[in-house]
This record gives sequence, structure tokens and C-alpha cells, in this order.
Amino acid sequence: MNSEQSIDNITIAEQSEVEDYRAALAADVLRGLSLPRRELQPKYFYDETGSQLFEKICDLPEYYQTRTESAILRDIAPELVEHYRPATLVEFGSGSSLKTRLLLSAMEDAGVLKRYVPIDISREMLLSTAESLVREYPGLAVDAVIGDFNAGLPPLTAPGPRLIIFLGSTIGNFTEEEATAFLRRVSSGMGEDDLFLLGIDLVKDPAMLHAAYNDADGVTAEFNLNVLRVINRELGGAFDTGSFRHYAFFNPRASQIEMHLASLTEQVVPIESIGMDVRFGRGETILTEISRKFTRESASALMAAAGLNVLDIFSDSGELFALALARRENG
Ligand code: AVJ
Repeated sequence: MNSEQSIDNITIAEQSEVEDYRAALAADVLRGLSLPRRELQPKYFYDETGSQLFEKICDLPEYYQTRTESAILRDIAPELVEHYRPATLVEFGSGSSLKTRLLLSAMEDAGVLKRYVPIDISREMLLSTAESLVREYPGLAVDAVIGDFNAGLPPLTAPGPRLIIFLGSTIGNFTEEEATAFLRRVSSGMGEDDLFLLGIDLVKDPAMLHAAYNDADGVTAEFNLNVLRVINRELGGAFDTGSFRHYAFFNPRASQIEMHLASLTEQVVPIESIGMDVRFGRGETILTEISRKFTRESASALMAAAGLNVLDIFSDSGELFALALARRENG
């Protein structure tokens, strides 16, 4: 931690590894677009426009994930909290959402709520979330942490037991290796009586998966193309978004959605600030996101490989989405 400020019941600490956004983007774009199979990281979708587009995706009729996860949470939160009585909620992500409030309210109702620890890369998001929540939950202390998910858990001094949540199936955007490494960092930061709740999207009818990433209104297509606009703005890129096509499909062998941007023509795209000319053949693609889909078994195996012991997996009646509850192994 290299800086800390305190206002009312809010503290904001910075994990020291936070890199400069533009420098990190430049390095990642240079690396990813130099690969024979070009790729970009999904975290760069989320500038202001991208975050707004993602919120629109969450409300789409085809995108069952957000509403299903909320329904499961609404269902399980009271009993879960009553049973484990967590004093602190730790969340990877901004937590400005309804899902956070479902848990905080259950903790308040059970009379156990003391502290909320959101971990996010955006200072503005953390501040606005913290300010709303201390108003909505009298007596709540918010210890926000500015940091990258990949740094794992910040040292937790907040009162236990702690309930650590990583929702939205964001774990699905990590490769197997990345996911295992991330979960290992989480489990090694957990105390014996801490709990971890992980949101995972389940394998299902491929047509339903396909529709969720190819919505009729083209919102997902705009979301995907937005990463090119981010590169244009931040790095002086010259991508013409009209000459790339959103292309997303379910790969059943790898059990993942693969989202690409396909070049419609042969073209050369200069990116000024990294001194790169990216050459595309017609139909050549950039992989912009994988979104892995799990079974109860594959999710349990992933968590076990990271030192997490799955206690329970909660799902909706349609088995569309699941929340896996775990403890640290031998905890
Ligand atoms: C952020 C993990 C929920 O993989 O479904 C939505 C983002 N990408 N449509 C996902 C996303 C395309 C997403 N999550």
C-alpha cells in the first residue's frame, strides 16, 4: 500500500503494483498483435463506453447470465449469511450492482454486517460505490482497494469471517492457467473460516450460448468493436471499425465462447504510439475474448487445483448459471 486516505467510514488504499493504464495497454497490444494468432485482452473493452455497452448486454433478452445469477443470489443469500455469519464482504470488481446489495442486505438483516472491501482498478468507480453504500447501510465501513484482480487478495485485516465474492463469470475470461493462478492467490490469502463464492456460467444448449453472444440488436458486436476504438484513442491507432466484423461462436471441444474481430479486407493498420503497422489478410481475426463454460465437475476440479474445497454449488432450476461456495483447503 503506498497511499491511503480516509473520509467518514471510507478508506481507499492503492495496491503498489498498479501500472499505468496506457503503458500496460501499449505493451499488451504490441505483444498480442505480434502473435501469429492475434489476440487482445478482454479487460480493455471496459472504458466508459464499453462499460455502458456491457450494462446494456446484461439487460438483453438473450443474455440470461446477469439476471440468473441475481436470482440465485436472492435465493441463497439469507440462509448462507445466517449460517456462516460473515462480518466482511470482499468483492473482486466494482460492486456498484444489485448483486452486492443482495448480500450486504442479507448481512445487515442477520445483524452481522461490519465491512465491505471492494477491489477494482477504477478509483472513480470505487469512490462512487463507497459513497452510495455508506449512505444506504448506516454503520458500514468501506475499505476500498485500487488494484488489479491478478494481484490477488490484499492483506485482509478486516473482521472475519470474510465472504469473498467473484461474480459475473469473469473467471471464464481467464485461460485454465490464468484461472488456476488467480484462484491460488485467492485461496492463499484466505483464513480458515473465510468463504469464497464464485460465479460460473454453465455448459448448455449451444444455440442458447450462441444467441447470448450474437444478440439481435448488435450490442455485443458494438462492445467487441469498442476495443478498436480504445486503441485508436489511447495509442493513436487507425482502425476503421467498419472494416472489421464481430464473430463469436461456441467451441464445444474447448467448452468456451470465442469472440473475434475479423478483417473484412486486406489492410494495414498503423498504431502510431507503438510504431506498429498491423497487416491483416481478408478474413483474418483477432481473438478478443474467451468465455469458458463449466460443468459442476469442471468447476470443482478447477477450484480443487487451486487449493479450494467446494462446499456447495447453487444453481437455478434450468441449470444455466451457478455459484460455487468454497473454503480454503484444510481450513
Ligand atoms: C464479463 C464475463 C460476464 O464472458 O459473458 C458479454 C463479458 N462478453 N458479452 C462474458 C461479455 C460478451 C462477459 N463477462
